[in-house]
Amino acid sequence: MSGAMDASQAWLAEMFSLSGKVALVTGSRAGLGRAMAAGLARAGAEVVLHGHHDDLGETEAEIARAGGRSRRWVADLLEVGALGARIDDLLAQTRVDILVNNAATFIREPALELTFERWREVQTVNLDAAWLLCQRTGALMVERGAGKVINVGSMVSLQGGVNRSAYTAAKHALVGLTKALSNEWAPSGVQVNAVLPGYFRTGRDSPAFTDPVTQARVPSGRFGEPQDIVGSVVFLASRAADYITGHQLIVDGGWYAR
Ligand SMILES: NC(=O)c1ccc[n+]([C@@H]2O[C@H](COP(=O)([O-])OP(=O)(O)OC[C@H]3O[C@@H](n4cnc5c(N)ncnc54)[C@H](OP(=O)(O)O)[C@@H]3O)[C@@H](O)[C@H]2O)c1
Repeated sequence: MSGAMDASQAWLAEMFSLSGKVALVTGSRAGLGRAMAAGLARAGAEVVLHGHHDDLGETEAEIARAGGRSRRWVADLLEVGALGARIDDLLAQTRVDILVNNAATFIREPALELTFERWREVQTVNLDAAWLLCQRTGALMVERGAGKVINVGSMVSLQGGVNRSAYTAAKHALVGLTKALSNEWAPSGVQVNAVLPGYFRTGRDSPAFTDPVTQARVPSGRFGEPQDIVGSVVFLASRAADYITGHQLIVDGGWYAR
């Protein structure tokens, strides 16, 4: 009995282990990115932490305390003209087996007041940079015949939202990009998926978090905590998800189904 138990535990561990893999998580200084980076490290991956400033110490320390390994990569995703070369520099130093496009900027503003510059800023960070990261890391994944890309969308990848047209457009596009790349790269053994978080308590300020009506609309009865996103990302990064591609995994406590 204990032999069978050991074998089934080993099988389970093997299925979800990321040992020997390198994961790049953009925007991993805090919030969901930090939780994802720490979770991937706990599953065995070496994690490349990314921020637009060199202030990744807290995430780094959390990973080290859990016995994991990380390195830093600093790049401002708004500086998109220089980004291709920055990504190539990183890829010259390390392989990336798992790319998590998590970094994003958020603007809450009615469309009639939004300037074109602010619109472009959101598209640049949330979409253009994500595309460049997919393209550069994806090229090497396709060459190796293996890799995982996980794009972090939102409920407004599916819904319109209110007073966030730039963010909604970028998050819809990110899901479109996910499907398009999945179609192109699936034959090469590279899976491209999206995770769509509902309401999560991070540093990001939202009136929803102080609104009991919004909270009551979440069937699970609470907003998400960063830890709640981790399983979805580890799963999609693992060999357990090798036949899942082009998918949008909603992690929202039941919000969208309601
Ligand atoms: N929290 C939610 O309820 C929620 C809901 C739906 C979707 N999401 C999505 O989940 C992801 C993480 O959200 P979060 O709540 O953890 O957000 P967050 O705390 O605002 O984190 C966003 C990350 O993006 C990075 N970033 C922004 N602009 C950048 C730039 N120009 N260059 C480089 N990095 C940049 C930030 O870096 P710094 O730390 O250096 O500022 C930060 O680490 C995002 O894609 C977001 O759209 C979140």
